[in-house]
Amino acid sequence: MPVDLNNAQPLAWDSATLDADTKAMLDNLQPNILRAHVREHLSVLFVRFNDAAEGKAFLRHVATTKMKSAREHLQEVRDFNAKGSRGTPYVGIGISKAGYRDLGHSVEDVRKFGDRVFRDGMKRRVAEVADPPVETWERTYQREIHAVILIGDAEPGPVAALREEILGALPESARLLGEETGQGMRNPAGDGIEHFGYVDGRSQPLFVKDEVDREPKKHWNPAFPLSNVLVPDPFAPNPVRHHGSYLVFRKLEQNVRAFKEIEQELADGLGLVGADRDRAGAMLVGRFKDGTPLTSKPKAGGGPVSNDFTFDGDDGSKCPFSGHIRKTNPRSFGREVLMARRGQTYGERTDEPWDDSPPETRPSGEVGLLFMAFNGSLLNQFEFTQQSWADNPDFENPATGHDPVIGQGDRDIKVAFPKVWGKPELSVPQAQVAQTVTMKGGEYFFAPSLAYLRNL
Ligand code: HEM
Repeated sequence: MPVDLNNAQPLAWDSATLDADTKAMLDNLQPNILRAHVREHLSVLFVRFNDAAEGKAFLRHVATTKMKSAREHLQEVRDFNAKGSRGTPYVGIGISKAGYRDLGHSVEDVRKFGDRVFRDGMKRRVAEVADPPVETWERTYQREIHAVILIGDAEPGPVAALREEILGALPESARLLGEETGQGMRNPAGDGIEHFGYVDGRSQPLFVKDEVDREPKKHWNPAFPLSNVLVPDPFAPNPVRHHGSYLVFRKLEQNVRAFKEIEQELADGLGLVGADRDRAGAMLVGRFKDGTPLTSKPKAGGGPVSNDFTFDGDDGSKCPFSGHIRKTNPRSFGREVLMARRGQTYGERTDEPWDDSPPETRPSGEVGLLFMAFNGSLLNQFEFTQQSWADNPDFENPATGHDPVIGQGDRDIKVAFPKVWGKPELSVPQAQVAQTVTMKGGEYFFAPSLAYLRNL
């Protein structure tokens, strides 16, 4: 039975009755797509090939000697949970449209990718998502990237060793165009955070039964069909069994100092005092720093970070419609838009991102998010989120403003904020908060099936 990508039932990957096609799918799928792989330490290599035969041989070598399958990853997680046995590092590969061409696929061949956004590449989509002009991107991203190689692990040692080995195998004809280093950050509770100091990575579409089973599901169903992240790999030996996923990569620099100033100005402007002041930042993100959803509670605190909520019954007086998590996942609709986010923070910090130190002690650049997400459709998921939701001040309700965290484009309309949580009284309309996240470059990739890579 061909794998039904639209089946809403989470994948019981370990079940004895799993059908042969689904088994084959898992044996040929890259890890980190269906389930997040540990990548506390992450190395991201951007490569250009220049010789089809050598480029193919290199990818085949990496795939056959360094990469595990989605199924092996799921087994490793199971064994870690049961016995504490450490898993192996993650190696992932994404190929751009230009990469497929350079590897010898014809223009007609590349049209087999249904996603026209992928076929365009990120540089040609600047206008749609209001990205900065390509000439302002970092040099690596201005160039024609053919492939990205992701290496991740809980410890820095294995990542460094694999990076050396993989770079050592790069043929003479190929070039390393640039690289990034990601490094996870955690708050004192042990939750992963981003540079503004907020818990990140908590809300994800889940595809695997054991992950879904662990989640409370009173309000929000975290289980999603595979179609949110998988498509048949058009060049694989058997696209019925061999799947891949569209990967968006964006380097997003965060001006933490400016964001922290904005939090304070907003709190002052709304007359928030004491613990209530934390609500200012929470109105921008949609969660408090510790991850508490603003739509559920007026104050931070109270146990594990919840993802079991919706915005139903919240007219914007609890969580503003513009709040980052409300913009990017309105929850009562648009489930098919949700991507599997697999990014990592980059940049060194000498301060503690979660504490209340004054803004002037915060970095104003050189730190940020290596945003990565797997999609079944870049057009209908990543780009739709950025363009039609985050960049759209009229999304859901007129004149509620851009996404204050990632919105791009002119923030010319004024917006009002709720003065008291859950009460209708609004502040006088004020200029939208300034943009503090700057896109420094990126590319669209396809993470092909292992079957494709091994057969190159
Ligand atoms: C969730 C921060 C970029 C889409 C979150 C959360 C934070 C956050 C703190 C809440 C944690 C969670 O619910 O998992 C940031 C920062 C960014 C950034 C600081 C840039 C530097 C983006 C981009 C997109 C995006 C570019 C997509 C266009 C999402 C989505 C969620 C989310 C879909 C989950 C919402 C939910 O399901 O409730 N982000 N984000 N984020 N973000 Fe971002």
